[in-house]
Amino acid sequence: MKPIIDYSESLIPVEVRGAFDDTIVPLAESSPTDTVEYMRTLHAGLGPIDRRKIDHLLFGASCTELDRELTVASPRELAAKYAGEMPWAGTQEAIWTPYEVSRMVVSKLTELGMSSDDVLYDLGSGYGRVVLYAGMTATAQCKGVELLPERVEVATAARNRLQLDNVDFTAANVRDVDFSDGTIFYFWHPFSAPTFRNVIERLRMLAEQRLQAGDDPITIVSRGKAGLMDVQPWLIERAMPMIEYPDNNEFFSRLDVCVIHQSTTAADAYAQ
Ligand SMILES: C[S@@+](CC[C@H](N)C(=O)[O-])C[C@H]1O[C@@H](n2cnc3c(N)ncnc32)[C@H](O)[C@@H]1O
Repeated sequence: MKPIIDYSESLIPVEVRGAFDDTIVPLAESSPTDTVEYMRTLHAGLGPIDRRKIDHLLFGASCTELDRELTVASPRELAAKYAGEMPWAGTQEAIWTPYEVSRMVVSKLTELGMSSDDVLYDLGSGYGRVVLYAGMTATAQCKGVELLPERVEVATAARNRLQLDNVDFTAANVRDVDFSDGTIFYFWHPFSAPTFRNVIERLRMLAEQRLQAGDDPITIVSRGKAGLMDVQPWLIERAMPMIEYPDNNEFFSRLDVCVIHQSTTAADAYAQ
């Protein structure tokens, strides 16, 4: 099967053994079923995950390659178009969640009871690494909201190719999106400070509504201690799983630990 997105210029041949019945199959040509099966095998394992290889499997090119194409075209235009926001265009691998982190987060959330009743949002979802990973390895509804339509196009093409009915992407500014159906929210350092404050305030209101309605608390997963989360009295820390990076360098260090918070069930925590 030919890859749905033709990034032939940037496509670097990659191969994988084992998960594909011991035959070597170019990743971008693997069937949707093989791909999902392979991702589930990785999810069940503990070893390092080759980000570049998985990007090729899902998107036909790595996120950094895709992003280079995006920004080389018009860096100034991009900056002007998204003034006041952080499109994170043309930067490094570190701005995308490593697949090992997705594995840890999905495992931990599943351990904490995530089910098909949950709606997991990645707010600022980029190329959809986290949403696609969760969609393949968990039963929750998985949704991504992303400012740059070019990235959503790539993520949606992967979603369609893999036939993931529980995955959905929206191209929009998060400020304009109603995410009140969400129960779990994921952040990988996505927004400018004003936008982050806007989102957190709306999450606080959502948590309060759910508390008053007797619904379950909301869960927030954030990269690092993510400053703003720490000072929210309506959030309690649920888990801080450590990530062991095989390449423990300046990008992938303790800073990349994800913290799982949950809105507290105590009404007085909401008192201002
Ligand atoms: C650091 S990247 C993380 C992407 C993805 N969550 C991941 O971990 O792979 C943050 C993303 O948030 C997006 N973003 C920034 N401001 C946004 C906004 N106001 N609304 C929606 N997305 C936004 C950026 O365009 C970027 O793709």
